[in-house]
Amino acid sequence: MNVIVMGPPGAGKGTQSKYIEDRYRVKQLSSGDMLRNAVASESEIGKLAKSYMDAGQLVPDRVVMDIVFATIDSLSDTVPGFILDGFPRTVQQAKELDAFLEAKQKAIDWAIVIDVSDDRLVERIAGRFTCAKCGEGYHDKFKRPKVEGVCDRCGSTAFNRRADDNPDTVRNRLAVYHKQTKPLVDYYRKEGRLRIIDGELPIDQVSKHIDEILSNAPSNLVASERV
Ligand code: AP5
Repeated sequence: MNVIVMGPPGAGKGTQSKYIEDRYRVKQLSSGDMLRNAVASESEIGKLAKSYMDAGQLVPDRVVMDIVFATIDSLSDTVPGFILDGFPRTVQQAKELDAFLEAKQKAIDWAIVIDVSDDRLVERIAGRFTCAKCGEGYHDKFKRPKVEGVCDRCGSTAFNRRADDNPDTVRNRLAVYHKQTKPLVDYYRKEGRLRIIDGELPIDQVSKHIDEILSNAPSNLVASERV
């Protein structure tokens, strides 16, 4: 099963991608995380990407596609599928992804859009923090760790807040989403692979809707609880 999780900044793409990874044992591939790793390594690509990310703009297609496609290629054959979290983000990226996968006799089963109004997104992004070790996402109001200061997933006590989660950059990221990424909804709708979920529901209900979609996935993937 190969799935795309799309939506505006703060919609819950990372939150739900981690849920799918844990439940279905497929691999989460976040283009944002890949780019942040490149920035942290201070590579030439990282330096280039940083200037776009800091401004809330999309990193050039070729740069992102090279990183994402290399990551897909590096997956072991035993991995039963992947979730693309935040990729593709332009029609060009989507077309090249389809061609890249077709050459490997693979395909995207579903493009899931998590739909949230702009007003809600600002509140979500402002309260967000993640585990510094495993990347599990939390929120000051909507999703606190079960034990204060300790990651539910890996037990780490170190957490990060993102540099691009400031109001000006968030406004740019939202504008960029509406202009450059929303046209992808029509791309996947025409292909019959689109599913839209109300992302304003509580986190567990959004996950439930995702389960309903994935239980009908063409590859009939079985959730890990039922394995
Ligand atoms: P990226 O890291 O992908 O950021 P983004 O798209 O802006 O999305 P976020 O990670 O901010 O949000 P999310 O949807 O994952 O929400 P989350 O689950 O954390 O990209 C960063 C930058 O990299 C881009 O701006 C661009 O420059 C570059 N880039 C990345 N991919 C690219 C590409 N393909 N092409 C070009 N450039 C690219 O949730 C947010 C918060 O809300 C959390 O605290 C969570 O706990 C909470 N929450 C989640 N769901 C709910 C819910 N249902 N109810 C209440 N709270 C919730």
